[in-house]
Amino acid sequence: MSIFWNIKKHGIVTSTQDILKEEVQNGAKEGLVIVAESQTKGRGRHGNQWISEEGNLYTSILLCPDFAPRDISHYSFIIGLSLFKAIEKTVPKTGQMSLKWPNDVLLEGKKCAGILLESDSFGTGDKRILFVGVGVNIKSFPTGKIGLEAIARKDIDPMFFLELFLNEIKKYMELYDIEGFSAIREQWLSHAAYIGKTIQARFAKTTLEGRFIDIDAQGALILEQADKKRIAITAGEIFNI
Ligand code: BTN
Repeated sequence: MSIFWNIKKHGIVTSTQDILKEEVQNGAKEGLVIVAESQTKGRGRHGNQWISEEGNLYTSILLCPDFAPRDISHYSFIIGLSLFKAIEKTVPKTGQMSLKWPNDVLLEGKKCAGILLESDSFGTGDKRILFVGVGVNIKSFPTGKIGLEAIARKDIDPMFFLELFLNEIKKYMELYDIEGFSAIREQWLSHAAYIGKTIQARFAKTTLEGRFIDIDAQGALILEQADKKRIAITAGEIFNI
């Protein structure tokens, strides 16, 4: 199944996720892509704010695939890999780029892009709506993060980057349709940050420590603790220690 992209460009918005949700209320179809120059209420994961100054990419993409609810996380890996490939093409010969579980892209160990995946059911059955929110630091970035231009040492047009990114999404959605999550998982793992290393997984009230050894068929991170006990982690944030 091929997706046709329909890109709608905005100036300043609250959040591209809000605009996309309004469009869905008005009957928007799969493939609608909202882009904004800046956001006043950009949202990140875990209820964080996403600082959204002009010059970076802020986009929300409407996908309506057939999938079992338990497989929703597969899409965050598909989108993460697509971002990785688009960045690789934009910032060639970049020193070090990796994917941090579950779906951040790191350049030289610092976050340059994030994904916010929200979903809604759509009638009955397995048809669901995915609101894929993506922010890429291109020109500016908050303290402790990084932007593409800082590494590439050249100007990068957010719309040019978006085109590359959408092409990659199409390719990876097709690969997923044909070969399933195993092909995505394999490629994702080949770029994974901290794989084989001792990490901390931090949650609201606890922290777990162990070796990051794998991701499972649902995309959960497999942590092996000192006593060799393995735990599947489905939420939280990981840190290299
Ligand atoms: C993260 O916390 O890593 C996810 C950040 C997602 C930010 C993007 S910017 C475009 C879209 N609109 C939003 O309000 N958030 C997402």
